Order: sequence, then structure tokens, then C-alpha cells
Amino acid sequence: AEIHYHEFVIEARPVKRLCRTHSTVTVNGQFPGPTLQVRNGDTLVIRAINRARYNVTLHWHGVRQTRNPWADGPEYVTQCPIQPGRSYTYRFTIEDQEGTLWWHAHSRWLRATVYGALIVYPRMGSPYPFPMPKKEIPILIGEWWDRDPMDVLRQALFTGGAPNISDALTINGQPGDLYRCSSKETVRFPVEAGETILLRIINSAMNQEHFFGVANHKLTVVGVDTSYTKPFSTSVIMIAPGQTTNVLLTADRPPARYYMAAHAYNTANAAFDNTTTTAILEYKSAPFNGKKGKSRSSAPIFPILPGFNDTATATAFTARIKSLHQVQVPTVIDENLFFTVGLGLINCSNPNSPRCQGPNGTRFAASINNISFVFPRRNSLMQAYIQGQPGIFTTDFPPVPPIIFDYTGNVSRGLWQPRKRTKLYKLKFGSRVQIVFQDTSIVSVEDHPMHLHGHEFYVVGSGFGNFNPSTDTAKFNLIDPPRRNTIGTPPGGWVAVRFVAENPGIWLLHCHIDSHLTWGLAMAFLVENGVGKLQTVQPPPLDLPRC
Ligand code: C2O
Repeated sequence: AEIHYHEFVIEARPVKRLCRTHSTVTVNGQFPGPTLQVRNGDTLVIRAINRARYNVTLHWHGVRQTRNPWADGPEYVTQCPIQPGRSYTYRFTIEDQEGTLWWHAHSRWLRATVYGALIVYPRMGSPYPFPMPKKEIPILIGEWWDRDPMDVLRQALFTGGAPNISDALTINGQPGDLYRCSSKETVRFPVEAGETILLRIINSAMNQEHFFGVANHKLTVVGVDTSYTKPFSTSVIMIAPGQTTNVLLTADRPPARYYMAAHAYNTANAAFDNTTTTAILEYKSAPFNGKKGKSRSSAPIFPILPGFNDTATATAFTARIKSLHQVQVPTVIDENLFFTVGLGLINCSNPNSPRCQGPNGTRFAASINNISFVFPRRNSLMQAYIQGQPGIFTTDFPPVPPIIFDYTGNVSRGLWQPRKRTKLYKLKFGSRVQIVFQDTSIVSVEDHPMHLHGHEFYVVGSGFGNFNPSTDTAKFNLIDPPRRNTIGTPPGGWVAVRFVAENPGIWLLHCHIDSHLTWGLAMAFLVENGVGKLQTVQPPPLDLPRC
């Protein structure tokens, strides 16, 4: 195994998109940031140097960080932020994981521009369980604002309303040629006719699920997150923020130029970016346009993508994903958790206040079991925990909702006013956990991609309406469910996951739609230390930032 040393200088640079330049927080001047390529078993040592004017932290999305919460990154959870002018070194080893992961800032809305791919190849000499592709291409789907995303966030937090939607969707940082001033920079992927390539697709967007497709080409899904999957062929994938999907594509069509495109899959009534981002798959043998050296002939062919609200296609796609092999799912459950996930509104005493610009003079809040998570400020949860500092958090997070109601029916908002708290739920080391995430219809039904830090879970079932334990549990897939770190709760439905809590530390669980996270759609697990060295948290690094 190798050790990879990197320096990540986080600093603002002028970046031009959509005819305008504005100062953008980047890593080493790159947007998107550098791609990390490592093998299973390798160690990464990344010195993060903060030269921006914001506090920042970095998160290695999907890396389990066994016994090592110190390298996980969510601000005020496992570390205090790295302040401007300071640095912190993240050290971690990839243990029995391979696939497509990514890294991103985990500090307010900085991840809008501070992100990159983290590709984990199999150990030296161990092959993929599919034919070796000729080349591999990371595809990062993102969002771009015409201004500093931190200002977008500030405005939303101040008014209590929804944040401004992005001005463009992007592929590898470029909006593509359907947007103004973007056609020259449209990302092009040259291919030889007949070759098979692996697309490592990452949804790094802030607030949007996406449909993605390549015109006239079939995609064979071979992996999601760090799972290899039973291969299946599809013309479109749905991918939620935080998720990754590996697909094989064979260049077996007439030599020409084909668009790959992504647009939002969005079920909410809320405003969203309904534009489309493109890149071009360009056969090297595609005919030229008249003169030599000029661009390839004629406009690229466009893929057919499902409508923005095509929940049926989105859910059918996700349901086809199965682990390649049989897996070990816990069959006995020690902790049976039922978590409502959804948006809520907090009433204001003065509904005309500029701080109450949510629906009908309210402020947006989002919650799990009606607790809207508040990130502490005085210390990180992990530091407070090991120092025994009281008053930072409590451990009485409710395992079930405080009241039972028709979650997806016509519910009155008054029933469900979230309370803002910093509550953790304690899990004994080694306990076998089931969580059912239940979407609610309090404000709007939407997909909530739930992401767990420090663990991966098996996705054993999902459905529409209210979860019914007596009939739905019997249909769970305990044979070959995919192991993932992020899974969408279907709009107006539920999803069930199982995992063993075998990583001591404090681990955030949250919706990977950043507007929802900002409104509090999060909680954290405290996985207690067990006995013996392999069950206890490593000591904190000496350069761990202080608050
Ligand atoms: Cu990719 Cu807590 O995040």
C-alpha cells in the first residue's frame, strides 16, 4: 500500500462562467478541485491550508474513517473549523473500500465550489469484476451561482426563506453549450469507435437530484458508491447529491458527436433549476465540417431525459440496483429506529418581519423526528465528548416520532413545528441498527438523500406512502441489497437501511440537499467506545483545530 501526500491550498480565485467573473473559493486554484486517485489499502495525508476568508473543513465523502473521526471533517461535529490563515492535516487509510468517492468542504455552503473526485482502485493485481475499460472519466455534476454561494446562503438564512436557485448546472465545472458564453468551454470526451469506457458519475450538486444520459448510448451500471452491482443496462440514471454511479459505455454508434446531459429531477413545488448541462462525447473518427482542423460536423445528438417530475422512472432506476454478490445483512435488530424526514415551518411572532420570508410569514426549518439540528459553535461534538465538556449536546434524540400521524397524508402544519436542538442518539458499539426514513408531507413531499458518516448501510427496502412494519418488513431484500453511504427517501415514501454500528465516534446523518441541511435536516449518532483497542477512538491529532 502507498502513502499519498497532498497539499490543498484553499483560496479564492477569479473564476469566469456565464460571461461573468467572480471570486470563487477553490483548491490549488482549480475548480472543480484536484482528482485523488488511490488504491484500496492506501493512506492519504492531506494538508489543508486555509487562505480563504471563511472557516473551512474538508470531508472525504464515503470513506469510513474507522476509529478515526478526526479525519471525517464536518465542522462542529468531528472538528472545529480551520480558521483563515491556519492549516490542518487529514490522515486516513482506505480500508476495504473501492469505487467512486469524492471529497468536499463541509462548512456552510463552501462545498458549492470546493469539491473533487476521490477514486479508489482495487488493490494492485486485483481486477474489476467487469471487463477492463479502455479509459475512465470522472463526471462531476454540480451547480453554479453568479455570485458567491456563501452570500446566497446568508440571504436565505437571514430571510428564513428559500435560497436563490443556481444559475447553471455544470459537468466538471462547465455549464456546457446550452448556456450563454459557455460553448467554447463545453467539456469534450474523445473516444475511439468501439472502445468501452467507465464513467464515474458523481452528483456534487448542492440542491438537485439529476437525470443523466448520453444520446443513443446504453449505460451499463456496474457500481454505486463503494458497491459493485449486478450489471444492468439503462438509457438514463437518476443520481442524488452525495451519490456516485459507475457505468460502462461502449462507443458502438455511428461516429459522430453525442451530448451527455443532466437536468434536475425535482418533485418539490419549490423553484428549481430547470436548465440542462451538457458535455460532448466525441468519436475521433467523426467526420469534419468542410475545412480540415475545423470542428466536427453538425450539432451533437441530444439524449432523451425523463421529465423533471418523473418519479416513476427515478424510483424504478434505484430499485434495480443490487449488490453483485450476496451480502451479510444483519437479520436481528437491536435498534429499531423510525425517522421522519422533511421540511417544516416555524411561526414568527411578526410575520411581516424581513426575517420571516418563508411561506405565509414563517421561517423554513427541516427536521428528523421534529428535531431541527443545530450545529454547536463553542466546540465540536467530538472534542466536547472526549473532554467531557457539558452543555454542548444531549443524547436524548427520539428513536421514533413524538406523535404518530398520517405522515404522507394531508397534515396540518400546526401539528409539526420543529424544535431546534443539538441531540445525539447513543448506539452501543456493535449494535445492529435499522432505520426507516419516512418522508412527510408537512410542507412538500420531496426526495431526501440521506447520508451517513462513518458507516455504510444496506438499503433493504423502500416504498410509497407510510411505512407499514407488518407488511413491508416481510418484503425486505436481505440477500443482495446495495451497500451505500447515501440513499434517497422517495418523495411521499420511505426507505429502510440496516448497518452494524462498529465505528466508535460521533457520526453525522443528514440530508445531502444543502438547503435542507442548512434548515436542520440532520442528527448525529454517538457510537460508544467498546472494549479493547480496536473498539476505541484513536487519540486526536495534535494539530486538530480549536474553536
Ligand atoms: Cu458529503 Cu456530510 O457529506
